[in-house]
Amino acid sequence: MWHVLLGGSLLFPGLYLLCSRCARWALPAWSEADCSLIGARHWLATSYIWLIIPYMVYDTYAMYLRHWYRCQNKQTLAGKDHFATAMDSFLRKDFLMLVHHTAILTILVPIALFFRRDIGDFFVGCLYVAEMSTPFVSLGKVLIQLKLQNSLLYKVNGALVLITFFLCRILLFPFMYNAYGQQYGIPFYKVPFYIPLQCNVINASMMAPQIYWFWLICKKALRLYTSSLSSKDR
Ligand SMILES: *[C@@H]1O[C@H](CO)[C@@H](O)[C@H](O)[C@H]1NC(C)=O
Repeated sequence: MWHVLLGGSLLFPGLYLLCSRCARWALPAWSEADCSLIGARHWLATSYIWLIIPYMVYDTYAMYLRHWYRCQNKQTLAGKDHFATAMDSFLRKDFLMLVHHTAILTILVPIALFFRRDIGDFFVGCLYVAEMSTPFVSLGKVLIQLKLQNSLLYKVNGALVLITFFLCRILLFPFMYNAYGQQYGIPFYKVPFYIPLQCNVINASMMAPQIYWFWLICKKALRLYTSSLSSKDR
């Protein structure tokens, strides 16, 4: 996870530097600002979507696989084969995740690739920022698997999950509305009435599951905190 995070941190500024330097070298008549814009106007904003498609498909399959292996250890339900048992568990326990992945593939990807007519790179970029919390969420799961849930690392990581999730998946939406308002000189609270209704609907339906997941994370964090307090009392 960390090497991917590090890789991304090097890749994007690196590409920016490379593009703007190349532009400066190839187009000496251009101003510094024009060259910088070339570096920042990202073909990756759209190209990255093509990378997301196989990722979402793979991730859905990987989630199913997890249930498949889990069911292997359990007694298979009477009259059901392994596939049906795993599918049943997948649909029951990861239903929201499945809806999330399906909605990204069937709604957001077509919008980002075809319907936005190459405008709104900024908002597409904003949505990529949402993935900031994922390495910490995944690391938390790995630490549980390694039975390290009482370690300091697990607690620090838990705090990072809370912070990144809140900033990049919840606060992100008011931030986007605010950025839009600033761009057009509209007060923040009036933005919902200026943008098309479907934009509000899509933003709201993207935000709703994030609030729900954040609520689950908060509950888990509270349980962790209170249990570590009571274990100190003992
Ligand atoms: C979400 O809201 C922003 C800011 O108001 C808007 O520009 C953007 O198009 C919306 N996103 C979608 C996918 O409609």
